[in-house]
Amino acid sequence: MHKAIVVPESGGPEILRYEDVELPQPGPRQVLIKVAAAGVNFIDTYKRSGIYPMSYPFIPGSEAAGTVVSAGPESGFREGDRVATAEGGGAYAEYMLLDADVALPVPAGIRDDTAAALLLQGITAHYLCNSTFPVQEGQTALVHAGAGGVGLLLIQLLKAKGATVITTVSTEEKELLAQGAGADHVLRYDGFTGQVRALSGGQGVDVVYDGVGKATFDGSLACLRTRGMMVLFGAASGQVPPFDIQRLNSSGSLFLTRPTIAHYLLTPEERQWRARDLFDAVLAGRLDVRIGQTYPLAEASRAHTDLEGRNTTGKVLLVP
Ligand SMILES: NC(=O)c1ccc[n+]([C@@H]2O[C@H](COP(=O)([O-])OP(=O)(O)OC[C@H]3O[C@@H](n4cnc5c(N)ncnc54)[C@H](OP(=O)(O)O)[C@@H]3O)[C@@H](O)[C@H]2O)c1
Repeated sequence: MHKAIVVPESGGPEILRYEDVELPQPGPRQVLIKVAAAGVNFIDTYKRSGIYPMSYPFIPGSEAAGTVVSAGPESGFREGDRVATAEGGGAYAEYMLLDADVALPVPAGIRDDTAAALLLQGITAHYLCNSTFPVQEGQTALVHAGAGGVGLLLIQLLKAKGATVITTVSTEEKELLAQGAGADHVLRYDGFTGQVRALSGGQGVDVVYDGVGKATFDGSLACLRTRGMMVLFGAASGQVPPFDIQRLNSSGSLFLTRPTIAHYLLTPEERQWRARDLFDAVLAGRLDVRIGQTYPLAEASRAHTDLEGRNTTGKVLLVP
């Protein structure tokens, strides 16, 4: 047996239970890892609350780093290897079963907590600015929630590409963090559309990366230049209601996409490319991974309350 967080049915953060569960055994192409740290992501809250349909009960968490304690014969890993993943299941636990094809070796020089903090939000930031809308030097991007997990990483990747970055945050503390990540202009949400248009010379920005959703979507569309790209990648404030496609026409022949990470990790090569870029940037000191809050595993419910309550910054980790 081992300790894990269990979601018995859909509900609020209080539904999460810290329980003894059966210790799984790896199949031929799987590894069992002792979790050093598990990443908390907004998607975990959608799965817990029932916004994403799940079969209950389940152990949440798709992101973790740890050490292999038992390796299937065809896994390609050995006991003692350090691995991390953004694509697992059941990470909120002392031990986690992982398919070998989604386990990434953690390079020497990268700490376990950094690896657990980097991958899911880092790969998201990486595909958003390299693949969904490949940002070019001199372009201007608006990033919402700039002091969040994805936000802080995305700002840094955009600055490294030579973009001008405008971002929104809700508090002064978050403003300082977004500035520290390199944002050129840090705004509050109130009246952001007019300010963004003014900052982009009245033209509008080339791309908006919007993970806030319902509260910002309309304003984000109004920030875009003619033929700009609206990237709606999340719904921290709630899901965007059904949308009249004619608005893309009248707002300036805009592009709209709603990407998700799984579709940007289609092959082993794509997974390795994104992970290697991120690990290399951390090792070279070009990418700072800010761990804002760390909670004991047993307090996962508090971590969810704080994440949904806008009381976190950067990465939120659970430590068994
Ligand atoms: N599509 C994908 O592949 C993918 C992958 C990873 C994450 N995501 C999405 O990216 C977004 C950010 O994820 P994250 O894990 O990095 O979270 P996060 O940004 O660390 O936390 C969410 C932030 O959203 C902002 N926010 C604005 N309005 C909010 C509201 N009404 N309720 C709660 N938060 C609000 C808050 O920052 P302020 O207080 O500064 O406003 C909050 O800190 C989420 O929507 C998530 O679902 C998508």
